[in-house]
Amino acid sequence: MKTGMLKQKEYIDFLSSVPAFKELPDETLSNLADVLETDHYPDGEYIIRQGAKGNTFYIIAKGTVRVTKRDSATGESVFLRNMGRGDWFGEKALSDEDVRTANIIVEDPEGVDCLVLTRESYKQLIGDLIILERKYSDDTTPKRSEEFRGLALRD
Ligand code: CMP
Repeated sequence: MKTGMLKQKEYIDFLSSVPAFKELPDETLSNLADVLETDHYPDGEYIIRQGAKGNTFYIIAKGTVRVTKRDSATGESVFLRNMGRGDWFGEKALSDEDVRTANIIVEDPEGVDCLVLTRESYKQLIGDLIILERKYSDDTTPKRSEEFRGLALRD
């Protein structure tokens, strides 16, 4: 359900407070603010399901999500981490993967507000940015997963 558009300035102020995005040129921030939309997801909802096709990129504005991934050996869902305000997700299906690589589930009694970007706008505005290149702890490159842990644990 749409919660209504925040004003352009509020988007820019928010993005400027997110470490990965605040270095972007003013023009890019302003272009992003023009095309971003806000969506609200209730507690327990799957914002992303592993294996589904995906066309959207998300930045968390408020609330907490849980990231889980199916263990290929047991078929069980494994908890990977929580993410909150300023964290983003959904970049993988828009870049190097065809389908969603993990589940993103709302874990917040008040639900989660996300800024949402379409595949087209993502490619146009931020798809090439190195800041969004990220490996995860279940990937094989230790140095990058260390970097991600730093990001995930920041306030
Ligand atoms: P995508 O594959 O499009 O959809 C699921 C998202 O979960 C994925 O993009 C990443 O943004 C995120 N993700 C995947 N694996 C991990 C992980 N190990 N830790 C944190 N986030 C992840």
